[in-house]
Amino acid sequence: MRDHYAPRSTVGVAARMIYLNKTCFNGLYRVNSRNKFNVPVGRYVDPVIADEENITACHKALKKTELENRRFSEMPTVDADFIYIDPPYDATFTNYLAGGFHKSSQEELREVAGAWAAQGSRVMISNSDTALIRKLYSGPEWQINEVRAGRMINSNPKGRKAVVELVIRNYD
Ligand SMILES: C[S@@+](CC[C@H](N)C(=O)[O-])C[C@H]1O[C@@H](n2cnc3c(N)ncnc32)[C@H](O)[C@@H]1O
Repeated sequence: MRDHYAPRSTVGVAARMIYLNKTCFNGLYRVNSRNKFNVPVGRYVDPVIADEENITACHKALKKTELENRRFSEMPTVDADFIYIDPPYDATFTNYLAGGFHKSSQEELREVAGAWAAQGSRVMISNSDTALIRKLYSGPEWQINEVRAGRMINSNPKGRKAVVELVIRNYD
């Protein structure tokens, strides 16, 4: 399915995506350096692939929504937006895209988030609880809260448990 099935319709592309998401390792989406989806097969006995109720609910929620896929640095800026950023987390798996997401990307993201905050948007960012992230968002415009989050995606099975993460905001 991953390597040999080439859907011709957008519905076929969506169906393949759902199939791969529900049957590959822990619902992870990751591509290799040639931009090919390369998540291994997951270990499921009887995965629910076509969850009609959920797909219908998503369909309703997304009906009036426009989705775009672009780099955060190329997001058009609109003041008074609510912006939630869920970037590749510091010091964890970051190779979603070719090139990875390293310290310089976290620094650039903070610059961009700061610009959005300065123009009047409400900005919320989630990330790992690391020294780098705490330092990047130590400025007076940011408040940091710790939250416990259940995590299923971790190459080490012992790591698949609740971890402390940070939610960073520029508003109360
Ligand atoms: C923690 S995941 C977000 C998961 C998402 N919130 C969800 O529930 O499926 C981080 C995402 O950031 C994306 N990403 C990586 N580099 C990016 C960049 N420069 N600009 C925008 N998105 C990027 C990755 O492709 C990945 O989907």
